[in-house]
Amino acid sequence: MKNRLNSYLLITLVIMLSVISAHSFAQEKKAGEWKAPKESDQVTNPLKGNDDAVKAGKKLYRQQCAICHGDTGKGDGVAGMTLNPRPASFLSERVQNESDGAIFWKMTNGNPPMAAYKDIFTEEQRWQLVNYIRSLSK
Ligand code: HEC
Repeated sequence: MKNRLNSYLLITLVIMLSVISAHSFAQEKKAGEWKAPKESDQVTNPLKGNDDAVKAGKKLYRQQCAICHGDTGKGDGVAGMTLNPRPASFLSERVQNESDGAIFWKMTNGNPPMAAYKDIFTEEQRWQLVNYIRSLSK
């Protein structure tokens, strides 16, 4: 009787473990599922067309973003390789089709493993980065 109880317990445990591990596999995230709220599209870029801002953004990008996003923004930085999801290429149609406001919102608020840069960079610096990301498509 006691043996039988033990094997029931064991079976229950095995089932529970497999449910838990199946769940953690299902958590594999895909790049591109992260959406900025619709309102962010209405925010206008105060530095639009400003080439000095592109240059300033490039400098910040090299220092703070290239490690994950790659030197040319293709999402192939050494620290980005093992992340889940991996950073998308800024040159991709999907990212370039996003509004300046949406890109600004994403770097402001972050989505792990992408950090929130709200308290790290000023608004001006974040718009400079938006301009730099935009310039990558040309
Ligand atoms: C630790 C690695 C890391 C660093 C450093 C980093 N990012 Fe990211 N970033 C990511 C990952 C990973 C994603 C994808 C997140 C997702 O799709 O959920 C991402 C996504 C983004 C996106 C959204 C792109 C899209 O797919 O829509 C923007 C914009 C962005 N990062 C800008 C920046 C900027 C600007 C910097 C530097 C100030 C920076 N990131 C630094 C890892 C990083």
